[in-house]
Amino acid sequence: MPAPPADARSFQAEVVSVERCGDDAAVVAIRPERPLPAIRASRFFMLRREDALSPAIPRPFSIYRQRGETLEFLIKVMGRGTRALAESVPGTVVRAIGPLGNGWPALDGDGPPWVMLAGGVGSAPFPMAIEQALAGMDGRTPARPEQMHLLFGAATAGLLYDLDAFRALGVGVHTATMDGSSGLKGHVLQLLDALQANGTLPAQVRLLACGPERMLEAVAARARERDLECWLSLETLMGCGVGICNGCPVPTDPAGPRGAWPNAKCCVEGPVFEAREILLAGLHG
Ligand SMILES: Cc1cc2nc3c(=O)[nH]c(=O)nc-3n(C[C@H](O)[C@H](O)[C@H](O)COP(=O)(O)OP(=O)(O)OC[C@H]3O[C@@H](n4cnc5c(N)ncnc54)[C@H](O)[C@@H]3O)c2cc1C
Ligand code: FES
Repeated sequence: MPAPPADARSFQAEVVSVERCGDDAAVVAIRPERPLPAIRASRFFMLRREDALSPAIPRPFSIYRQRGETLEFLIKVMGRGTRALAESVPGTVVRAIGPLGNGWPALDGDGPPWVMLAGGVGSAPFPMAIEQALAGMDGRTPARPEQMHLLFGAATAGLLYDLDAFRALGVGVHTATMDGSSGLKGHVLQLLDALQANGTLPAQVRLLACGPERMLEAVAARARERDLECWLSLETLMGCGVGICNGCPVPTDPAGPRGAWPNAKCCVEGPVFEAREILLAGLHG
């Protein structure tokens, strides 16, 4: 059975700030009781408040930013667990388990551009991906800002969280909204088509994607059709986050590199998978 990462810990932390973000989210910053070493982008933590406002089962969140001793999370309010965290105040005590999962592969500057496809709060694993790629990951050639493009899609402009923070990183930032309130009217793959058609992006790109399951299915299909390298960061439902409860199965492709075993555990084998490893259709039944 795949084990949880050796560096995962359960620890208490204190909320130091909560900033509203977009129409329905907040950036929640916490300070752990002991500082954590540098965390790879797209790893995650299980979080809950240590009071009756949070459900008993903690909820998974990607690390959004790590600033000194502080960890930040971009939290979109969906239900009780996310509301409790987003409505915390400085001094609220939370329980965290992490860092968990694998994170993005090494994002180097040696190949085609990296195109980051974000759907709504699926933008959360990208600020640190950009920072780490520009700094150089795992001894690889650092990426240059012009090699990295964020294609950010959402239903409406108010759900394109923290756009200025992405722009400040110096990478290409392009938006698409279903109602046309920001950028192209349509979804992120239509935006990719448009940017390839106008020469902003070449045909050969490397894809990283995080967002709703339907979006990820479409991205994986595009990667297959065009034979593109593609990694997906999944946001499946999770129970334990450490490989015990079997609450996060991801169907694997028998024809892919993982072979015939039918499922991977998203929490310990993901949340990042190569698109060719997995079958997304029907992930949530
Ligand atoms: C690895 C990972 C990283 C994540 N990172 C982030 C992040 O950075 N920021 C963030 O806001 N969220 C993130 N999520 C999703 C987040 O964990 C869920 O939104 C949260 O668990 C919902 O808890 P809740 O108690 O508020 O909602 P619940 O009361 O549990 O559910 C409310 C509604 O939301 C739906 N729902 C719950 N979880 C999901 C999900 N994963 N996908 C689609 N619908 C869901 C339920 O079906 C239900 O309809 C991540 C999930 C995973 C697995
Ligand atoms: S969430 Fe429990 S096994 Fe993955």
